[in-house]
Amino acid sequence: MKALIVYGTRYGATKGTSEEIAKVLRDENLDVKVVNAQDEKVKDISEYGLVIVGSGVACGRWVNEAEDFLKKFRKEFENKKLALFVSSVEPIAKKEGNTAEVAKMHKIDLEDRVSKYSLKPITTGFFGGIIDFNKMGFLTRKGMEAAFKTPLQKHGFKETAPNAYDLRDWDEIRNWAKETAKKAQE
Ligand SMILES: Cc1cc2nc3c(=O)[nH]c(=O)nc-3n(C[C@H](O)[C@H](O)[C@H](O)COP(=O)(O)O)c2cc1C
Repeated sequence: MKALIVYGTRYGATKGTSEEIAKVLRDENLDVKVVNAQDEKVKDISEYGLVIVGSGVACGRWVNEAEDFLKKFRKEFENKKLALFVSSVEPIAKKEGNTAEVAKMHKIDLEDRVSKYSLKPITTGFFGGIIDFNKMGFLTRKGMEAAFKTPLQKHGFKETAPNAYDLRDWDEIRNWAKETAKKAQE
C-alpha cells in the first residue's frame, strides 16, 4: 500500500513527527512519501491508499497549507484511509489533569475540522510539540512562560536546550503510527 503524509509546521515539531511516522510505516511495509505542504502543493492523491495529515497548532489554528490540503481533497478522502494528527500543548494539560482543557483542545484542534469537512479518520493523534521560549517575541514569551513554564518543569518535560522543551512522546507517536498502519491495511 502507498501512503502519503502531508504536514504543516511553524516550529519544526510536526516535521520530525511526520518523519518518525514515515519510518514506522516503512517498517510495516508501506511505501511512504512525506510532503511539507508549505513547500509542495499536492495535486493528485489517487495512487495513495492511506493519507495522513498533520499540523502544528498555534492559537487554535492549523498551518494554512495543511488545512487547505484537507479542504481540497475532502471528497477524495471518502475512498481512502485517512488519519489526522496535531502537534500541540495537549500533553501539558493532560499531565495537569485538566480534563476540560484537554476536551477543549481536542474539539478546537481536530474534532471541529473533522465535522467541518465531513471526514472519517481511522485514527487521530494528539502529540506534543516544541515550546522554545527563545524563539518567541517578547510579549508571546511572557504570556507563554506565565502559562507553561511551571507545569513544564513540574512534570519533567525534556529541556532540549536552555528554555526549550520538546513535548513529544516518541513511543506514543510510534504506537499510533503502528496502529494506523494496521487499520489502513485491514
Ligand atoms: C504563539 C504560539 C501559540 C500556540 N498556540 C497553541 C494552541 O492554541 N494550542 C496548542 O495546543 N498549542 C499551541 N502552541 C504550541 C504549539 O502547538 C507547539 O509549539 C507545536 O510545536 C507547534 O507545531 P510545529 O512545531 O509543528 O509548528 C502555541 C505555540 C506558540 C509559540
